[in-house]
Amino acid sequence: MIGVFDSGLGGLSVFREIFKILPESSYTYVSDAGYCPYGPRPAEEVIMRADRISSYLVAHGAKIIVVACNTATAASIRYLREKFDIPFVGMEPAVKPAVLKTKNGVIGVLATQGTLKGELYHTTLVRYASDVKVIERAGTGLVDLVESGETSGPVAESLIRKYVDPMVAGGADKIVLGCTHYPFLADTIRSVYGDSVELIDPAPAVARRCAELISEFNLCTNGNFAYFYTTGKDVGMLRSMAEKHVAGLDRKDKLFGNLTI
Ligand code: DGL
Repeated sequence: MIGVFDSGLGGLSVFREIFKILPESSYTYVSDAGYCPYGPRPAEEVIMRADRISSYLVAHGAKIIVVACNTATAASIRYLREKFDIPFVGMEPAVKPAVLKTKNGVIGVLATQGTLKGELYHTTLVRYASDVKVIERAGTGLVDLVESGETSGPVAESLIRKYVDPMVAGGADKIVLGCTHYPFLADTIRSVYGDSVELIDPAPAVARRCAELISEFNLCTNGNFAYFYTTGKDVGMLRSMAEKHVAGLDRKDKLFGNLTI
């Protein structure tokens, strides 16, 4: 099967893209809600969690793992690739497409503290963004909104404004959603800013990379199940988010449950 994990529900924004192009595969998704958010945690702690979850997924038959979390990718992808024998796909803030598309020469990057501090993000900036202005904000609190299902309404709007207003005021016309939770806030962001900004989500590109690796390594991930586990308490929220956002999931043998790892 294909293993997918995140600090919580955000990885479902990546899962749905993978599932769209690989509907015949089996999946195990782990939401590490018991340890969410990862953003403010030291990198060593995030590496420890990524290691635990990956070991679990490998022991249960994962042929490839998608680290559907920018923060976990930033902290742990190198470690995971060295330790495990299977391919790993990570998230990368979509700076390159934003730079290619901006008309104003200004882009916004909304990500967690952990991602913005990471080496991967800085390398990406040096490689692709030397000729544009980049306005960054750590979206502290946005992950919690998504985890609690509060993706719209006055609280969500005012927190979004706190981070996105300075980007728009600075002339950003493309905003990189550098955390996999943020696509679930996209409708609310659009309702506030209309067409003045375009939101860039790397999930479809990550899904294509996953499919490429499966064929490159000749992996068989075909099967009929999709299992969803949370290390937190709220299995109901995981189930409702998955059923709401992953089109076609009804065709799979599904299971939602708790996991203690
Ligand atoms: N979805 C994670 C990411 O992409 C959220 C990080 C967090 O838990 O703070 O970065």
